[in-house]
Amino acid sequence: MASTYRETYQNWQNDPEGFWAEAAKEIDWYSPAVKVFNPNGGVYGTWFDGATCNTCYNCIDRHVEGGRATQKALIYDSPITGAQQSYSYSELKQEVVALAAVLQDRGVGKGDRVIIYMPMVPEAAFAMLACARIGAIHSVVFGGFAAAELATRIDDATPKVIISSSCGIEPGRIIAYKPLLDEAIELASSKPQATIILQREQLTCELIGGRDFDYRSETELAKSQGREVACVAVAATDPLYVLYTSGTTGQPKGVIRDNGGHMVALKWSMSAIYGVAPGEVWWAASDVGWVVGHSYIVYGPLLHGATSILFEGKPVGTPDAGTFWRVISEHNVVAQFTAPTAFRAIKKEDPDGKLIKNYDLSSFRTLFLAGERADPDTIQWAERSLNVPVIDHWWQTESGWPMATNPVGLGALPIKYGSPCVPVPGYKIEVLSDEGEPMANNELGNILVKMPLPPGCLPTLWNADQRFREAYLEEFQGYYKTADAGYIDDDGYLFIMARTDDIINVAGHRLSTGGMEEVVAAHPDIAECAVLGIADKLKGQLPAGFFILNSGVERDVAEIEKEVIALVREKIGPVAAFKIAIPVKRLPKTRSGKILRGTMQKIADGIDYKIPATIDDPAILDEITEVLKARGICD
Ligand code: COA
Ligand code: AMP
Repeated sequence: MASTYRETYQNWQNDPEGFWAEAAKEIDWYSPAVKVFNPNGGVYGTWFDGATCNTCYNCIDRHVEGGRATQKALIYDSPITGAQQSYSYSELKQEVVALAAVLQDRGVGKGDRVIIYMPMVPEAAFAMLACARIGAIHSVVFGGFAAAELATRIDDATPKVIISSSCGIEPGRIIAYKPLLDEAIELASSKPQATIILQREQLTCELIGGRDFDYRSETELAKSQGREVACVAVAATDPLYVLYTSGTTGQPKGVIRDNGGHMVALKWSMSAIYGVAPGEVWWAASDVGWVVGHSYIVYGPLLHGATSILFEGKPVGTPDAGTFWRVISEHNVVAQFTAPTAFRAIKKEDPDGKLIKNYDLSSFRTLFLAGERADPDTIQWAERSLNVPVIDHWWQTESGWPMATNPVGLGALPIKYGSPCVPVPGYKIEVLSDEGEPMANNELGNILVKMPLPPGCLPTLWNADQRFREAYLEEFQGYYKTADAGYIDDDGYLFIMARTDDIINVAGHRLSTGGMEEVVAAHPDIAECAVLGIADKLKGQLPAGFFILNSGVERDVAEIEKEVIALVREKIGPVAAFKIAIPVKRLPKTRSGKILRGTMQKIADGIDYKIPATIDDPAILDEITEVLKARGICD
């Protein structure tokens, strides 16, 4: 089909409010917007001002009432435990209503926060939707974060209740969540009134009387009592959730998502971007702890009346590199979304794609990749092996939905390898120099979005309007700073090349090297350190820490290395994948004392570099090169 992308983009540019007002007709509102966009609301304006709505109603109830009651809403497929379970829209409603009743019994109401710290089980999705139903604000914390990270989020979000689980399951090991939760509550100065704990058969836990409540017995009781919980009307501009993401310090940023704009944008994206029809089966192979999980495991597909797969497993090893193909063929998945790293892992195990031939993938139409740069090799391997278009698209936690994509639903454009294609309607993307001057085509600069951001993007940070302004809006007046660098080519295709801050992307997981430096520097024997992301064939990037010992320290340095690695795992969590800690005598710096992390990274990655003009002592670069060579990190 000929692409209607350019026409659609033009329609949006001609009349942004009219464009989104039209898209908003796909959502059921209790009362309509007084203003589609109010430029005077919030920090930079608010979408669907004056409207009232409920996200859970739009995800569940209206489908139950509208003929999808028996259609599968959620399929839980867990190769790591061997479990499989599906929930129709009416069964999903029953689960969500029961949990909403339990939350109400614990005093949770509109505007209260609830932290959800859970593995990839359907109850995590029920918990998000139950909060949405009663107007509570959820904050999901990824299971791979350690107690200290959870504690930071508890202190920032001050939740009334935490919903968690006895354990998560990783290949070869069971992760006891309850001790992590207890430690986090101990560490936090804000204490939740109650926790609701899902006991899993792989490892149960002790419940603390008066504080911990059993998820299953409480919800079963609510069901047996026939409890009804109506959807609570909230303002379109009220927060639906807060999702913490790495910032440039150890203090994560609480990205807020509102209710109204979020629904409009996600619903529109399911057909226009992903080309999925209501009733079809869609699979985002991510985790509910990340934005992809929020938008495209839970809210997007359910708003659309599609069937969503919630997968508890890994692309390899659960049990093999054919798992993805098994899930696609068994559930007739039409489109999948995952991170390129998952495909790199599969390609490594099964380079000739032999396992693919064991499955009937005739239902499968499109593969979407995002979360990190998709290297052309991986894309081409996936194209060849699966014989479907492979679409790289670009977005971030802050946007909540794609900023650049090849819009399959509007008719795909030609693919250019290495590019996530073109700006999505709603986003006017420009590339400016550090001084704010427009860059010519094909020239690298700061990638910015002209304000205002479209519906669905963050209106601000939780309790931190000023931090929001400083982090995103102040450096380039009139623009939102994505903190990505790249360029736009002569055909208007965007290329994302690097971050402009200290964020790195490890296996599609966003991490702050600044946060890791804070942990490493806290080691009593360490005087100074630098953490940077170095290239890795599988995970895209891996953190590597360089540290200088305090003078006079005579302990075995190998021991200290181990302690540093253990410290990052303990304070940030296994997800940081911090396994390289290297003692050095000196760190290269500018004359004003700034560590030359970028140059060190180039050395580690074997990329040609220029000796920075401002360097204090160029000899240190040779020392770093020698150390990296000795470790086999560079040649
Ligand atoms: N709870 C507890 N620990 C977790 C966890 C969780 N939810 N998720 C990951 N971890 C642990 C892992 O077990 C691993 O621990 P280890 O150091 O003891 O081995 C560590 O955190 C690092 O995890 P990860 O970087 O994911 O590496 P991996 O080797 O386990 O898996 C991939 C590598 C590529 C298979 C996996 O990262 C993957 O499937 N990624 C793509 C999909 C995705 O999730 N994308 C996110 C955004 S779209
Ligand atoms: P997150 O907030 O975890 O989704 O991470 C967002 C960041 O991941 C972006 O700012 C980019 O740096 C990177 N990213 C996401 N998608 C892509 C992509 N398709 N190509 C290159 N980088 C990407």
